[in-house]
Amino acid sequence: MNELDSLVESAQQLFAQAQTPNDLENAKAQFLGKSGKVTELMKGMAQLSVEEKKSRGAAINLAKQAIEAALTTRRQALADAELEAHLKAEVLDVTLPGRRCGTGGLHPVSVTMERIEGIFGSMGFDVAEGPEIESDWFNFTALNTPEDHPARSMHDTFYVEGGTAHAPNLLRTHTSPMQVRHAVQHVKKYRGLIDAGQTMPEIRVIAPGRTYRVDSDATHSPMFHQCEGLWIGENVSFKDLKVVFTDFCKTFFEQDDLVLRFRPSFFPFTEPSAEIDIQFQHGPLAGRWLEVSGAGQVHPNVVRNMGLDPEKYIGFAFGMGPDRLTMLRYGVNDLRLFFDGDIRFLSQFQ
Ligand code: PHE
Repeated sequence: MNELDSLVESAQQLFAQAQTPNDLENAKAQFLGKSGKVTELMKGMAQLSVEEKKSRGAAINLAKQAIEAALTTRRQALADAELEAHLKAEVLDVTLPGRRCGTGGLHPVSVTMERIEGIFGSMGFDVAEGPEIESDWFNFTALNTPEDHPARSMHDTFYVEGGTAHAPNLLRTHTSPMQVRHAVQHVKKYRGLIDAGQTMPEIRVIAPGRTYRVDSDATHSPMFHQCEGLWIGENVSFKDLKVVFTDFCKTFFEQDDLVLRFRPSFFPFTEPSAEIDIQFQHGPLAGRWLEVSGAGQVHPNVVRNMGLDPEKYIGFAFGMGPDRLTMLRYGVNDLRLFFDGDIRFLSQFQ
């Protein structure tokens, strides 16, 4: 084997040993680089005669081509191997079913809350929110509830530690504290007008939220929801309450023939007071009277606690139960189902 053949062979061997493209480029430099073996051979021809240059040059060129061919082949082989390894590493089974993207949805009671806000919003009511840990003052005293009222007892109310009459000391038992809380803010805003003997803009607000009582059975949960409504102005009467609430119920249940009944009742903070019952004219509950809200004309003492003159300002309030409205709308008979968080139950409302 002549010197050139063995050069080609040693290049082929070295290229075959290269395991990475980097190794291969280093091996290539040894033969084809600036001071590589092939380059050196070319330089060595300078002293030869023209005839000798021709034959020697042709032979070196052949060897060079053979080395380049070996290089190309190895380069391709290494690239193929790399691709192969890459494909193996990321196995993708295109026959597997795709992953579902869970869409989630609103809780049925949240859907009801949004409906309530939407309907009252269209009648010009604002939406206000208040604290769930409330003071004795806003929850009871400001609402004309006497010291010895049974609702204040530990059997009915969750008290929290500490607290004074005005500082938070209980979990609100209804959303009615929002009547005075909201009105006080409103009155503060329009104090100037009121003091100047002018008339302030009416208070028209609903206050939805969580409420708490020591109570638990199929139709009572220790945590439940209420939505308060309040409309105070110079000329707001019980008739307005009837119109507004009747309109609301018919829209909420999408039943124009729904019948409402205002049954005399008692609340310390309204006088006169009523329970509002509804009666469906068709469907599984048709003919039964179903209680949906307490209501009444705001008591003069409460109007006074709002910072207003009860001789000038008058209005009504109501407090309804969105949980119960949701049960009636969907025909659910156990309130606890709403708060168990069982996805099999909840997903039926999506
Ligand atoms: N707060 C009363 C309750 O929880 C409902 C109510 C609100 C009654 C407003 C009258 C006026 O039962």
